[in-house]
Amino acid sequence: MVYDLIVIGAGPGGYVGAERAGHAGLSALLIEKRALGGVCLNEGCIPSKTLLNSAKIADYAKNGNQYGVSAENVKLDHTAVINRKNKAVRTLVAGVSMKMKNNGVTVVNGEAVITGRSTEGYQVKVDATVYTGKRLMIATGSEPAMPAIPGLKEGYAYGFVLTNREILDLKTLPEKLVIIGGGVIGLEMASYFNSAGCKVTVVEMLDHIAGPTDREISSILYNNYKKAGVDFKLSAKVTEITSDSVVFETSEGVQTVAADKVLVSIGRKPKIEGLGLENIHVQTERGRIVTDEHMQTNIPEVYAVGDVNGVSMLAHTAYREAEVCINTILGQKDRMRYHAIPSVIYTNPEVGSVGETEESAKEKGLEFDIVKLPLAYSGRYVAETSRGDGIIKVLIHRKYRTLLGVHIIGSYASEIIYGAAMMIETEMRVEDIRQIVFPHPTVGEVIREAMWEL
Ligand code: NAI
Repeated sequence: MVYDLIVIGAGPGGYVGAERAGHAGLSALLIEKRALGGVCLNEGCIPSKTLLNSAKIADYAKNGNQYGVSAENVKLDHTAVINRKNKAVRTLVAGVSMKMKNNGVTVVNGEAVITGRSTEGYQVKVDATVYTGKRLMIATGSEPAMPAIPGLKEGYAYGFVLTNREILDLKTLPEKLVIIGGGVIGLEMASYFNSAGCKVTVVEMLDHIAGPTDREISSILYNNYKKAGVDFKLSAKVTEITSDSVVFETSEGVQTVAADKVLVSIGRKPKIEGLGLENIHVQTERGRIVTDEHMQTNIPEVYAVGDVNGVSMLAHTAYREAEVCINTILGQKDRMRYHAIPSVIYTNPEVGSVGETEESAKEKGLEFDIVKLPLAYSGRYVAETSRGDGIIKVLIHRKYRTLLGVHIIGSYASEIIYGAAMMIETEMRVEDIRQIVFPHPTVGEVIREAMWEL
């Protein structure tokens, strides 16, 4: 048979694409070489959130006396945490499998290679079987970038150096964990392992953590984790990984930090090798597949969604890209917009951001005003948080009075930020937002509050 669509990769991009295709009545084949759900479900977003939730509960219990609650001998049982994580992952993977079934998607387990094109469509080989599809959706995701640091490859081979995949399955807690890269993965893992009682050191190349996050927000996060005991080595260049340490260089000279395990989290790169893209001449650029706003590659019937196109490496971006792709196939008008995609760092406190940061807005020469409020403007925040230093920072277009960016650090930031994304996406003005009734008491009310500070 000739499928309407062959989807390669069953992460958030691929499985949502297959699901929407099936829902619309297209015949869809989904090929996955590992597990349904991809990195997000099996070794990324979901497993890390189960770990971080346990860490948060432990931290609350340890600091319970601030809230009038006392608990003794609070311990985080790492084995139990990992078991619970595995259960959550199994439940969600089963859920994806069920969705595929309910939408008539055929699922094949194996590694796909695009072998060519015939008059009927594109050919994709899995083991000895060749499948044909009128269209292809490439959703193969990304893999950890591994820098060429002496000793890193060797350390990875014998389990001393880990990536996000292995660290989420560690059987025992390392006493000393060194994290190379203070970005999203590095910080989330620093958060868990620090709460679990490990000595955590983060070695970061830049002079700040959390990469493109608004600087003011990332420095609050930095101070929180420094206070909590995480050791940061900034502006540091890792020069070697030995069998029990990480060697790095700063302006103060060469230093060594002892490690039982090393996590490498310096970014991810799109997974395109071995896929056979050259067999149908799909255009790539600096290791990613080039796509337009309809998720089409240089070949109109070949689409690429999610991390593999390297535009915005986030699961929720992939969901939406997959939908844009299917709508385009169905002839419905749709296009991908990237300016209002929220991002979250699930540390404690959480960070939620959307739109321009102060730095990026300045760089673009935008004219804007800034409103900044402590989250203590929210009654719920005060009621629930002891000594919290959370803030909300809103960037407002000086002429149009629309929101350019919203940045929140503090409790519930992850759950609040989509509201701000909607305001940016729909181009609401300050005056429009003032007319919205927010539930009280909530932390999210600070957005409304901020609109009256202008
Ligand atoms: P990242 O890009 O967030 O951070 C990498 C960090 O490593 C940067 O701060 C960078 O300056 C630093 N770095 C690069 N080379 C280095 C070197 N040689 N030595 C020291 N530091 C170095 O990448 P990360 O944390 O690996 O995450 C990968 C992807 O996964 C990201 O695209 C992220 O958006 C996504 N992700 C998203 C999450 C979320 O939405 N909550 C959670 C985890 C990952």
